[in-house]
Amino acid sequence: MTTETKGPSQPLTERTAWKALQAHFPAISGAHMRALFRDDPRRGERMAVEAAGLYLDYSKNRATDETMRLLLQLADESGLRERIDAMFRGDKINVTENRAVLHVALRAPMGDTILVDGKNVVPEVHAVLGKMTRFADAVREGEWLGYTGKPIRNVVNIGIGGSDLGPVMAYEALRHYSRRDMTFRFVSNVDGTDFEEATRDLNPEETLFIVSSKTFTTLETMTNAHTARSWIVGKLGQHAAVAKHFVAVSTNAEEVEKFGIDTANMFEFWDWVGGRYSMESAIGLSTMIAIGPENFRAMLAGSRAMDEHFRTAPFDKNLPVLMGLLAIWYNDFFGAETIAVLPYEQYLKRFPAYLQQLTMESNGKHVNLAGAKVDYQTGPIFWGEPGTNGQHSFYQLIHQGTKLIPCDFIGFYQTLNPLGNHHDLLMANVFAQSEALAFGKTVEEVRAEGTPEWLAPHRVFEGNRPSNTILAERLTPEVLGKLVTLYEHSVFTQGAIWSIDSFDQWGVELGKVLAKRIVPELEQSSAELQHDSSTNALIRRYRKYRKSD
Ligand code: F6P
Repeated sequence: MTTETKGPSQPLTERTAWKALQAHFPAISGAHMRALFRDDPRRGERMAVEAAGLYLDYSKNRATDETMRLLLQLADESGLRERIDAMFRGDKINVTENRAVLHVALRAPMGDTILVDGKNVVPEVHAVLGKMTRFADAVREGEWLGYTGKPIRNVVNIGIGGSDLGPVMAYEALRHYSRRDMTFRFVSNVDGTDFEEATRDLNPEETLFIVSSKTFTTLETMTNAHTARSWIVGKLGQHAAVAKHFVAVSTNAEEVEKFGIDTANMFEFWDWVGGRYSMESAIGLSTMIAIGPENFRAMLAGSRAMDEHFRTAPFDKNLPVLMGLLAIWYNDFFGAETIAVLPYEQYLKRFPAYLQQLTMESNGKHVNLAGAKVDYQTGPIFWGEPGTNGQHSFYQLIHQGTKLIPCDFIGFYQTLNPLGNHHDLLMANVFAQSEALAFGKTVEEVRAEGTPEWLAPHRVFEGNRPSNTILAERLTPEVLGKLVTLYEHSVFTQGAIWSIDSFDQWGVELGKVLAKRIVPELEQSSAELQHDSSTNALIRRYRKYRKSD
């Protein structure tokens, strides 16, 4: 392994820019955005960047030009440029799994060359896209028939984590473009309720299951896939029906075959696509069936435009870099623990959930690339809900609570569902919220409204609460690709500066291993228990009260 892959030689907290940011922090933490805007009337236009069709206003942040200069210097000192080049080149930057990180290859145009172990992967990507296209068209056009000769009307994706969150988010986000005469469902949880509710009203003769699993060994997915197979075989009475009602998306042909799916009906992807970065690989098969191959390719084109922007734009005009740096500023200097993502677009209702895996599985790491414990905070907690709903729920805490919560507002100039003045009302709320968060309401303003003195403190809004606002024309497949990729590369930027491996996920392993050990202990009530006293007592209690069937 080269030193280069282990990150910059100087530990983060010893880098010149880091120390300069520490020295700079008191001046900024004591400054109010009211003053920053008053002293710089053009701040709102100056601290904004438009690229690849997305407009980012980052002026409502607790940052000055000097802050941005130092953060950009930190990016340079952290070797961000080299890390970006290494990713796009296909270097094995996922060091703990010894893998390349090439979701960017999923949207590379035919003719590009990206080498993994000396082999150009771009032709394979396009071959799979071609196979997906033919299959999606056959299903959409009623040419792919179920076992009894009926066309497919229901598509059920079975997968979890990256093999679920991307597809379900993209389906919801692009529902406007989807086939309304077909039903799309997503089963992820090992809780039988998920499968039961997803299938209870479906006609098996018209139902296609897509078993999506990179490894094809994940407990939840394989349990649901076996249940689905029994459901199909039980209802249609023939094992041969499996061939017409199941396809697989996986890197593991051997396991797919063992399960009983013909590998001719398997859509391949590769170990260099991380699960949480896979929605534009064959994992997006359900998306392609829903919105059609052309729209799917438009989504890829959007991601590609953002890839190119990230790869080539100077950092001070680079959307993912700026967002990543500001996330670091709040996380590591202000001690903010979370970031709220607030899309003012109902179709993006699953976007925060999708981002949770993308950001937290990527950057929730406590050691750096060299395996040393970090002495700084890494990945913030991402959460959120669509506006305006969140305003009537948790925004109170963002406005007047004791915690600092940087927010990302996402809005669109045009709605996909023009209905009276709904869209103006929606967007008025985006602008009002970021304004209220930044500027608040002083006690003088509250008093001037005639508020009694005892009530005044309750009605004061301190303001100085930071936000980004991201605007785009309207939610098209292309724009969705851009948004997803904006966050992918913002996550990359943060991980590169923290010198962590943003592409492994060892933290999910221990729980899986322990669950495997506990399963037989639940099934055989005589099994001896050798856990801690709490776990033993919980298992005994469950054994006692579980309903035996
Ligand atoms: O939760 C861990 C994880 O490995 C995720 O990273 C991944 O997206 C998910 O499980 C599903 O894995 P698979 O696609 O192999 O079933």
